[in-house]
Amino acid sequence: MNQTSEENFYKMLEGKMTALVTCRQFGDTGKGKIVDFLARWADVIIRGTGGDNAGHTICFDGQKIVTHIIPSGIVHPGKINIIGNNVVLYPKAFCDEMAALVNIGISFDKLMVAYNAHLITPAQILWDRLSEVTAGSGKIGSTGKGIGPAYSDFVARRGLMVGDLLNPEIFREKLSRHLKFYRHILSGFDMKIVKEIMFQEHLESGFYYDDDEIFNIDNIYKKYIDDYGRIMERFICDTDAFVKANLGKLKILGEGAQGDLLSINRGTYPYVTSSDCTAAGLAAGMGLKEGDIDLSIGIIKGFYMTRVGCGAFPTEIGGEESDKWCNCGQTNKINEKGLYGHCDVNQVSGLAQGVMIRIIGDEYGATTGRPRRVGWLDLPLLRYTLKFNSQDIFLTKLDILNTVAKIKICYAYQYVGKTIKHGDDIIKSGQVLYEAITDNYILSRCKPLYMEFDGWQTNDLGDCYDNLPDQMKTILNYIVSETKINILGISVGADREEIIWF
Ligand code: IMP
Repeated sequence: MNQTSEENFYKMLEGKMTALVTCRQFGDTGKGKIVDFLARWADVIIRGTGGDNAGHTICFDGQKIVTHIIPSGIVHPGKINIIGNNVVLYPKAFCDEMAALVNIGISFDKLMVAYNAHLITPAQILWDRLSEVTAGSGKIGSTGKGIGPAYSDFVARRGLMVGDLLNPEIFREKLSRHLKFYRHILSGFDMKIVKEIMFQEHLESGFYYDDDEIFNIDNIYKKYIDDYGRIMERFICDTDAFVKANLGKLKILGEGAQGDLLSINRGTYPYVTSSDCTAAGLAAGMGLKEGDIDLSIGIIKGFYMTRVGCGAFPTEIGGEESDKWCNCGQTNKINEKGLYGHCDVNQVSGLAQGVMIRIIGDEYGATTGRPRRVGWLDLPLLRYTLKFNSQDIFLTKLDILNTVAKIKICYAYQYVGKTIKHGDDIIKSGQVLYEAITDNYILSRCKPLYMEFDGWQTNDLGDCYDNLPDQMKTILNYIVSETKINILGISVGADREEIIWF
């Protein structure tokens, strides 16, 4: 570890009171690790968006901890952790995760949950899962955690809030109206499928189900108010007021979820999640404005990318074959290891090479276990996200490509679809695009143009920028010259300390 650089990084933090960590790709870039590092500096760590669709992995002292809904700062004793106003919260997910963390000695004394965060209900989880199984080719590949319906209901003004758990009568009244709406829209669906979903473990194995009414309101009330509500009430408060009052006094760190390209506002719509996962969205979910933020760090993987679920992914290794393979519902870590675990990553191509990188990088969903589709680093997409973000970037997982002989970086696309009007532009077949257009029709018809580089093919990555393998430095310099990013540091291993600051 290069102490001088780490000191430089801390020097850069001097005088700063607010920092954010968000992802410039499709999520799963290892934000947990850098959040964990910055949590040592911060007094307060806040999750502002998303729900238990996220999975943040932290490795330390040989332990691996994955948090889904609780900020990953919780593993740091004495820090205040907050679940902010734009999070969607499923009480079962929260209470199960909390119980598991308490079990390993983690304290919840300083956790706060925003009264104005949104509650995920059983009806929303059912609707999310039902929509996916009945959507055919229109499916999004959601995590099935009720995220989309929870945000939709909020906007449609029929959602419930976390603060409703403090007021049982109001909760019951709102829940009754909410369920009436869902009973109505569910009436056209096959009740066999509905029942099957309602008996899944995440929906308390049928406890919320009623043969005549679909939902058993008494049982939902009982769980939400008498069980989870009792556990949660001590955490629920006005976190926005707390954050405002302490702005400039306490060091505040925002922990992003998912990534810019999955943002409802900026991502590859409609193949996105339903929250705004950008720095602006995170700041709002923390109770702040983007202008309140002193340092905004973006995370990307070096030098590959992943995407979970459906939607265009121009640099996907193995292309459509990989998309189908990963989204068929049958693929998992065990069968992939059986099929490809013995292969040499440099002797295979297409789908198989993507699988090999997935195995080496352990790119399987922390929340769902699904295989993440693997592709090469895509600079047109990065240039797009940099338009509405700071240039400060941290790269993760550089060690994953240690054995790969040839590394491709996509520097531009060639569009190969019909002529299409896009905003002020007309995009024609054959046109070269240096900045991605996130419209799914266009993006899915973009052929990547690659620059190919030699890999470094060593496990010895040194302990400072100067000692990095030359081949790695060449690629890093190329990316900087193409995108003008400012690289703050890189992560070269799973452990907390395996960071090289620049
Ligand atoms: P939802 O957030 O469950 O509604 O899923 C919408 C899309 O976002 C799907 O393609 C998911 O695979 C993707 N997604 C949601 N959360 C994550 C995440 O934490 N990492 C990567 N992809 C995610």
